[in-house]
Amino acid sequence: MIELKIIAALAENNVIGYQGKMPWGKIKEDLEHFRSLTIPHPVIMGRKTYESIGKPLAERENIVISLNPQLIKSPSGIYLCNNLEQAISHAEELDSVAFIIGGQKLYEQTINHPLTSTLEITRIYRNYFGDAFFPWININEWELSQYVCGKECDFETYARRS
Ligand SMILES: NC(=O)c1ccc[n+]([C@@H]2O[C@H](COP(=O)([O-])OP(=O)(O)OC[C@H]3O[C@@H](n4cnc5c(N)ncnc54)[C@H](OP(=O)(O)O)[C@@H]3O)[C@@H](O)[C@H]2O)c1
Repeated sequence: MIELKIIAALAENNVIGYQGKMPWGKIKEDLEHFRSLTIPHPVIMGRKTYESIGKPLAERENIVISLNPQLIKSPSGIYLCNNLEQAISHAEELDSVAFIIGGQKLYEQTINHPLTSTLEITRIYRNYFGDAFFPWININEWELSQYVCGKECDFETYARRS
């Protein structure tokens, strides 16, 4: 069985995005953290997140979920699926771990998924105005297993309580 890991950066008010982008722009140490955890594993994302990134992430299989793949402007170098289970099956053919990299719609569908074992959460200690949010992390279900203090943000790992 494949293991799914969610990776997301959250403002204090749980905002993850605004108008298709992350409102805090690029935080170098978070980008490095994201790269170091996700390479070389498959990454699964919603169509809007892929369009926000604009191109496939290097050294990882990019699996994009959409019911309207004809709308995608740069479809080369990605694996397109029209539902989550198909995306997971494809990832499972390639690896024993895959990362769910957003956005809100994908996080909502996977945080309670039985294959999701881990949350990799970047905490950005500011509130931002936004229109995309991370779902509530229920501490009865998720245990903080690692905490690393960064300069501009902190990194938390949660393991699903058995
Ligand atoms: N802070 C972070 O760590 C982080 C990470 C990633 C993204 N974000 C932000 O999150 C926002 C985007 O989130 P979002 O929720 O609006 O969009 P999203 O989850 O990236 O993409 C949603 C789209 O994915 C497709 N989709 C999702 N689930 C599906 C399913 N089960 N079956 C078929 N298609 C499915 C649909 O595409 P179609 O409409 O084409 O059918 C849907 O409209 C952006 O602001 C982005 O910057 C933040």
